[in-house]
Amino acid sequence: MVQKILRERFCHHYATGKLFGIEHQYRHLLELLKRTAVHGESNSALIIGPRGSGKTALLNHVLKELTEMKQVRETLLEVHLNGK
Ligand SMILES: Nc1ncnc2c1ncn2[C@@H]1O[C@H](COP(=O)(O)OP(=O)(O)OP(=O)(O)O)[C@@H](O)[C@H]1O
Ligand SMILES: [Mg+2]
Repeated sequence: MVQKILRERFCHHYATGKLFGIEHQYRHLLELLKRTAVHGESNSALIIGPRGSGKTALLNHVLKELTEMKQVRETLLEVHLNGK
């Protein structure tokens, strides 16, 4: 029974592209970057975790929500660097 519930929850979230289990980190990063963009706070964030734990997905979700906010969109400059 528990297995069934967990499987459904995981599969549902993966299928819909929603994040699962990292809501706290999502809120935290969103608020931090929002304050950086809107109030000019000098912040930095290091996202660490095992491979496939959702670091990139977390950042992409946060950036997507931020760019949908008018007050943030006006001041935000997104720069992607790839060190590979
Ligand atoms: N908490 C989560 N909720 C929903 N999907 C997740 C979660 N964690 C990982 N995924 C999914 O798993 C896959 C791998 O995640 P992602 O690429 O973000 O991991 P990563 O931490 O950036 O890995 P890497 O260290 O290899 O860069 C993606 O398809 C992502 O959407
Ligand atoms: Mg990644």
